[in-house]
Amino acid sequence: MDTIKTITRRRRSCRNFTDEALTQEKITELINDAVWVPSGSNLQPWRFVVVTGTAKLKDYSDAAKRMWLENLDRFPQMRQYEKSLRDPEFNIFYNASTLIIIYGNSDSYWHIHDCSMVALNLYLLAEEEGLSCCWIGEAHNVFADPAVKKELGIPENYQLAAPLILGHPASPRTAQENPNKRKPFEIKFL
Ligand SMILES: Cc1cc2nc3c(=O)[nH]c(=O)nc-3n(C[C@H](O)[C@H](O)[C@H](O)COP(=O)(O)O)c2cc1C
Repeated sequence: MDTIKTITRRRRSCRNFTDEALTQEKITELINDAVWVPSGSNLQPWRFVVVTGTAKLKDYSDAAKRMWLENLDRFPQMRQYEKSLRDPEFNIFYNASTLIIIYGNSDSYWHIHDCSMVALNLYLLAEEEGLSCCWIGEAHNVFADPAVKKELGIPENYQLAAPLILGHPASPRTAQENPNKRKPFEIKFL
């Protein structure tokens, strides 16, 4: 039987999806469940944009790749991905057909923390339903861009928190734990 513990342990980021599209109803249901997280001062500072369709997402992928390549000096952490960014075949959304973008209201001090918890809930709820997610950090530049935000109808005081692709995983999920082991870390009791 699935429990929060088993779902948490087997959840993985997915980069290979089937062509099966998700309905707006299913996406809306997942978001409606995902927002049941704590938030600083209970301000619930999130809003969502859902981009559907592989062609639209391919255009955003191309824009993001171009923007990273034009600004590699400012973002040295992206140099490790330079080869894939230069590969015209590489799609930062892995040909997924759904992207959920979470924006947080920066009037709330904790907006990024609050929205990150919603993102994790989306991961876990998707896993429970046999769906899968992947947070796409490589899309942060394009969806934080003021011109793109304007095009999407996002007010200036909303800051990009998390772009997540979502879909049906191409490989059947197993009930096994994530083989991606955890690194050792410290727990200090005082
Ligand atoms: C903030 C953040 C940004 C990420 N950006 C990307 C990304 O751009 N592309 C990608 O393929 N995976 C991305 N990931 C997924 C991580 O690579 C993945 O979570 C990590 O390798 C651990 O694997 P797991 O999620 O399957 O446990 C990102 C994850 C986080 C939390």
